[in-house]
Amino acid sequence: MVAASLALCACAAGSPPAGDAVAGERMFLGQVAVKTSRGDVPPCARCHGTTPDGKSPLGPSLFGVADRAATRVRGQGAPAYLRESILNPDAVLVDNYQEGIMYRGYRDSLTDRQLDDLVAYLLTFKVP
Ligand code: HEC
Repeated sequence: MVAASLALCACAAGSPPAGDAVAGERMFLGQVAVKTSRGDVPPCARCHGTTPDGKSPLGPSLFGVADRAATRVRGQGAPAYLRESILNPDAVLVDNYQEGIMYRGYRDSLTDRQLDDLVAYLLTFKVP
């Protein structure tokens, strides 16, 4: 039990995720369908824009999110915050957005590897 919780902590401690940002981008954009036993999951880009103009179809723009993610929750680094945002979208709500809009099924459908890839991609959105 102790060993298990230590292993979990290692991921939250801010060590860079092992993900592949290019694979994450393909998933984000829906260029590869993420197929699960429950059907395909909606691509992130259906709701999130990532361009500097801030345009975004339904959810908040993720432009610059790598910087914001590091400041959202005290003591939680950007990788852990981003992962939590995908697994548990209502844990922290972005200003002016309500709970229940972001798709909640990613936690039941994405593998650890897919999550790592998505987080690696989101970590590329730093404001220069
Ligand atoms: C059905 C629309 C929808 C889809 C699909 C969706 N999101 Fe979201 N997302 C939202 C909304 C709305 C919010 C703001 C409310 C909240 O914080 O839950 C949000 C919030 C976020 C945040 C927090 C941003 C911040 O500034 O703190 C991240 C990160 C995020 N989404 C990533 C993703 C990723 C990655 C995917 C794909 C795996 C995804 N979202 C799919 C609607 C969506």
